[in-house]
Amino acid sequence: MIQLMKPVTIQQLRAIEVLDSRGNPTVDVTCILADGASGQAIVPSGASTGEYEAHERRDGGARYGGKGVLGAVQAVNEEIATALIGKDATEQAQIDTRLLELDGSERKSRLGANALLGVSLAVAKAAAASYGMPLYRYLGGIQACTLPVPMLNIMNGGKHAADSTDFQEFMVMPIGASSFREGLRWGVEVYHALKKILTQRGLRTTVGDEGGFAPSLPSNEAALDLIVEAIGAAGYEAGTQIAIALDPAASELYQDGAYHLTTEGQVLTGAEMVETWLAWCSRYPIVSIEDGLAENDWEHWQMLVEEIGAKVQVVGDDLLVTNVDRVLRGIREKACNSLLMKVNQIGTLSEALAAAALSQRHGWTVVTSHRSGETEDHTIADLAVAINGGQIKTGAPARSDRTAKYNRLLHIEEELGDAAIYPGNDAFRTQRG
Ligand code: PGA
Ligand code: ZN
Repeated sequence: MIQLMKPVTIQQLRAIEVLDSRGNPTVDVTCILADGASGQAIVPSGASTGEYEAHERRDGGARYGGKGVLGAVQAVNEEIATALIGKDATEQAQIDTRLLELDGSERKSRLGANALLGVSLAVAKAAAASYGMPLYRYLGGIQACTLPVPMLNIMNGGKHAADSTDFQEFMVMPIGASSFREGLRWGVEVYHALKKILTQRGLRTTVGDEGGFAPSLPSNEAALDLIVEAIGAAGYEAGTQIAIALDPAASELYQDGAYHLTTEGQVLTGAEMVETWLAWCSRYPIVSIEDGLAENDWEHWQMLVEEIGAKVQVVGDDLLVTNVDRVLRGIREKACNSLLMKVNQIGTLSEALAAAALSQRHGWTVVTSHRSGETEDHTIADLAVAINGGQIKTGAPARSDRTAKYNRLLHIEEELGDAAIYPGNDAFRTQRG
């Protein structure tokens, strides 16, 4: 983070309960500084959440089916506000350390990771506003110029769409485009081509939680065939111009030591799951696999990296939960070669940035990510640019909760002008490589 001279104190912290894209309550925090600058942040929420994520505090009881967040809201308005008012908003690390001390629990369960994250992000945004800087510049400094290659999730399954594929996300990546703007357009054209193909085949074009189509298909692999066809129908070359990325969210399929693919009636061992990914990567232009194995199946994660890590990005989501300790284990055990950075998995901005920095120092890539439950908040677009990560995963190029992030990136690209870098295929090149 760049060094700033002007102390700007927090004057007010105010949270309210709002709704996310699934119609569930979430925490919305506004931070107002002594100089009048303000920042607002709305906390996202996952469905296929990792076992080791920070604790998302919900009220329980009958209200909103138990999903209310009035407890977390109250924590912000009372205990956290009392502790942080008068503190310097530009001292993000100190603010976040204070939040951790205040909570005091191992998984941020006392005050709630949703309360902590809302404050952490709102403070950062208020500080950036106070300096008249966009968030990506405030956090990333003068070097923050890399736009991310989008992973556009055009087919949804698993926990994000009923009666569809076992695997959660089938994404396209416009690696051959020359700008973010162009890459996004390519993705949109493929998305619409896919819709047309599904309609022609009499398949469902209803969408899942992240805006991708959720047809009922005879096999998981059928989704890949349809996507390759859609890439061609849109006029692009699969592999060189548009590649495929997967997030099977395999923790959700793992039970009693095996992977249960219910739509295909198959039960696979860890080694067979790895075999499946190798076979798919040999037949389809797949450049990235996230959570191809379950969050506790470290042995087969290592096997996958050993077999294919030199060619394919192996991304840890539930495995790493944006947690420095788990990232360290992943690095030592060579269990992946990429971090999925989700700020709400860990609960403060400083901790998420530390996990990203650690990953990058060890030659890993970092993919900034949304959650399946999102809002109009587009903070992660700025985070992706701030860390020069070069990749973002934020759903289909449809539904406002997803397009809010893509639209924000279009603005950032415009603002950066000639300084903007779109890495394309280089997004997979590591810091060392
Ligand atoms: P989630 O899914 O937000 O439901 O956990 C997104 C992902 O797995 O990347
Ligand atoms: Zn995932």
